[in-house]
Amino acid sequence: MDRISARATAALLGDLTEDGQPLHAALATRVRHLIGDGRLPVGVRLPPERELAAAAGLSRSTVTTAYGRLRAAGWTTARQGAGTWTALPAGARSGPWVPAPADDGVLDLAHAAPRAAPQVAAALAAAVDQLPRLLPGHGYSPAGLPELRARIADRFTERGLPTTPEQVLVTAGALHGVHVALQAVLRRGARLLVDAPTYPNALDAARAVGLRLLPVALDSARPQDWLERVERTLTEASPSGAYLVPDFHNPTGLLLDDAGRARLARALRRAGTVPVVDETLVELGLDAVPGTPLGALVDGVTVGSLSKAFWGGLRIGWVRADPTLVPSLAAALQTAHMSSPAVEQLAACALLEGAEASLPASRQRLRAQREVLLAELAAQLPDWQVDRPAGGLVLWCRLPSARSTRLVQEAGQRGLRLVAGPRFGTGHAFEDRLRLPYTGSPEVLRRAVRILVEADAAATARPRRAAVV
Ligand SMILES: Cc1ncc(COP(=O)(O)O)c(C=O)c1O
Repeated sequence: MDRISARATAALLGDLTEDGQPLHAALATRVRHLIGDGRLPVGVRLPPERELAAAAGLSRSTVTTAYGRLRAAGWTTARQGAGTWTALPAGARSGPWVPAPADDGVLDLAHAAPRAAPQVAAALAAAVDQLPRLLPGHGYSPAGLPELRARIADRFTERGLPTTPEQVLVTAGALHGVHVALQAVLRRGARLLVDAPTYPNALDAARAVGLRLLPVALDSARPQDWLERVERTLTEASPSGAYLVPDFHNPTGLLLDDAGRARLARALRRAGTVPVVDETLVELGLDAVPGTPLGALVDGVTVGSLSKAFWGGLRIGWVRADPTLVPSLAAALQTAHMSSPAVEQLAACALLEGAEASLPASRQRLRAQREVLLAELAAQLPDWQVDRPAGGLVLWCRLPSARSTRLVQEAGQRGLRLVAGPRFGTGHAFEDRLRLPYTGSPEVLRRAVRILVEADAAATARPRRAAVV
């Protein structure tokens, strides 16, 4: 889409009087949300002021003021006499998003990070026993320990993506892998297709690498629309890269089916867009098994990690790429990373070797926790809309109104740490969303929902106006 008609824009805007703001502010806020959640793609020409005013039943001065605000805040660019185009403000970042200390007495549902699987301590102890065979050497393994690269390659091959050890590089977790992949395969200033919503730290990594984001709206209720939008964006904008999470997407939990994977791969190939496929959650299928790895259908980089299936504290992840991309990945990796730690890599080998035996119990625990959280929410917050994801670690709740930030503040004051919906987008969209991980024990989840009930009541009793651009 390179332009949008006044009628289509007015339909997207809906009723602006609902916001309780002056109309020009409500119009600017709504446009910002539409850009942030991808329903208005970046680089689209907005209708002329007079036409939008007529179609939306607004005065011309209301539209002029709103366009002026959007332009001043970087949400549009304008060329004198030529029109107004949607844009994303440079550097719209909210600072690093890292877990708080684990032991500060606060219930933490801000991060979807499970406790260590029972096998982790034993794998580390066994790794220490094996260490003497490595100690006579220098201890550095810039691409990863050969036996770990071989295990990771085998796992890919078992899942339908034939891989040799030379195609795998060990990283310090998946986020490191995403950063390395974006840096290695894309140039500063290149365009990167991302979902809206998506994993926030990947957005920050992309910004750090100097990429321009092209958000595409992903609504868990209408995944087909997402696929169509992705195809359109790939055709019309030909972004150099795409950051994709096809397996239990964070935060929506969506699993792309086989037909969708084939369509997506075709569209990526046609556009010459390199996918960076984040498979961090791929082993956490609770009611469904992921289909063919996207990397088997289209060349690109696949990123994985032990953080969610075993433990984030291991800091072991990987990138897997076609042989032509491996040298640039290795160069990007090794500029700031001499090696991953030996003990953790040895432990990772053992954990991967035993994965088929150990993962069913982890999935079973997550299933039970997911059911507790779903049941508590249904009983105590019945006006929230919550779907059951087929896998992954989180629920992506739809709140009855735009109150996520307020709710998170109220919960924080009551000892429950959460992260508000907008953190998962490129702008300020998703104020009506809240991500809730089911990584805690049933007892933790029940306490969390009790606090949520109070926080929600407080947030709705004293609604705060949505921030104006
Ligand atoms: C989609 C996705 N990618 C990457 C990460 C980060 O993983 P790691 O701890 O391995 O860096 C997460 C963690 O939540 C995630 O959900």
